[in-house]
Amino acid sequence: MEDRVFARELQDKMVPIMVLGMGHVGIPTAVGLAELGWKVAGVDQDLAKIAILREGRLPFYEPELQELLSKHLASGRFIPTEDVEGAIRSATVLFVCVGTPQRNNGEADLSQVEAVARMIARNLNGYKLIVEKSTVPAITAQWIKRTIQRYAKGGNTNSPENPGHVSGSEISSRFDVASNPEFLQEGRAVHDFFHPERVVCGVDSEQAWEILAEIYRPLQCPILRTDLNTAELIKHTANAFLATKISFINMVADLCETVGADVMRVVEGIGLDPRIGPDFLRPGIGFGGYCLPKDLRAFIYLAEVQGLDFSLLKEVERVNQRRSEVFLKKVHQALWVLNGKTVGVLGLAFKPNTDDIREAPSIKIIQGLLAEGAVLQLYDPSAMRNMQAIFPEEGGRVKYCSLAYDAARGAHALLFLTEWDEFRQLDLAQVRNLMEVPILVDGRNLFAPAQARAAGFEYISIGR
Ligand code: UDX
Repeated sequence: MEDRVFARELQDKMVPIMVLGMGHVGIPTAVGLAELGWKVAGVDQDLAKIAILREGRLPFYEPELQELLSKHLASGRFIPTEDVEGAIRSATVLFVCVGTPQRNNGEADLSQVEAVARMIARNLNGYKLIVEKSTVPAITAQWIKRTIQRYAKGGNTNSPENPGHVSGSEISSRFDVASNPEFLQEGRAVHDFFHPERVVCGVDSEQAWEILAEIYRPLQCPILRTDLNTAELIKHTANAFLATKISFINMVADLCETVGADVMRVVEGIGLDPRIGPDFLRPGIGFGGYCLPKDLRAFIYLAEVQGLDFSLLKEVERVNQRRSEVFLKKVHQALWVLNGKTVGVLGLAFKPNTDDIREAPSIKIIQGLLAEGAVLQLYDPSAMRNMQAIFPEEGGRVKYCSLAYDAARGAHALLFLTEWDEFRQLDLAQVRNLMEVPILVDGRNLFAPAQARAAGFEYISIGR
């Protein structure tokens, strides 16, 4: 490759990009890059997702994403395609955003990452930069490299019996692997793509660094250059630390209840110390979602494999596991017997502004309520369809409501499990009139206790 020609093409955004994996990370990345001016192909092993995207729809709900998708399908800068191998051959920069699900022992299942690496190896027709964006354990990038070398045509076969085949070192000069972990949060993925606090680029070649630095140049934030393993570890460390903050404050909340203190004021008090800060210290029913719980377990596993006992993180997980029991106990204390009682549940998604219910604390809470014989009226602005797959409406024990107020109708208690803004805006007097018994059990501290009590409720929240 002519270095100067390539540099000009890079500046002119002529270097073709592809994104492998059209999920919560892949789609925002693909259309975000299109918005920055790049031409991006998007592929996924699930061809239904490609069909949905091609029709201009999203396979999940995410604010602001629909507009960007429509815009760049129309501009022709985002092209969803079934032709994975063709797209690999056409692309120079390949962002790997495939799933890294979990095995039973907590270990990350990297089979999708490996499959992608092998496919890239088979289609290595010129220089390629493979950018790992999925959250993966340290040294995965090294594995990707080794896999590509091994499966590339002629890889490791510069033996006398294989004359004419390219050597392993020639192959590695034709590609680089970089680790560029994604920190975006669901529900604000588009915002986070364009306004990240930092971009981390783990690289081991100048060329890889130059390409990534050029791609991210328009984003006004620090771009950190590290080696591959460090970048991978930054991602895991960040998520493990965030999880630790939440479990920590949840234990403090329990303590506040027993000694008679207000956890929200405690957070205010400690948060003013810049060494601590006020963020990510919202007490509640625990953290869920696709990333935090899974990445925490993968980090614990990684430490174990390395012979380290990171028991601090095991405790973080244990505290989190117990949050739904702590919440169910509050419901019990309020209602005494649940059997036959109607309970309204507001909020099913693992957090607001998403329809995602993966590892949502609401699942365990609903299971607990059903096991006690409660009759449930559920409502969520986005996540009801996903929840119906787990708790269908059969048998009259579970009903999905089209309005938050309908979930309150005739209820003996109303539970808040997700902090949607819509719930903060409810007319509490109206809610009170609809309910059989005015009890609110608030797992997200949405209301000021005085406000709820003034509206005539028995109000139970977290750590206050
Ligand atoms: C997380 C990381 O924040 C993000 O950087 C990474 O890229 C992916 O994983 P996400 O899964 O979208 O993002 O959700 P996040 O906003 O972090 O919330 C995770 C869970 O923690 C939610 O269930 C949320 O309700 C809970 N949470 C969060 C709390 O209980 N208290 C808090 O203070 C913050």
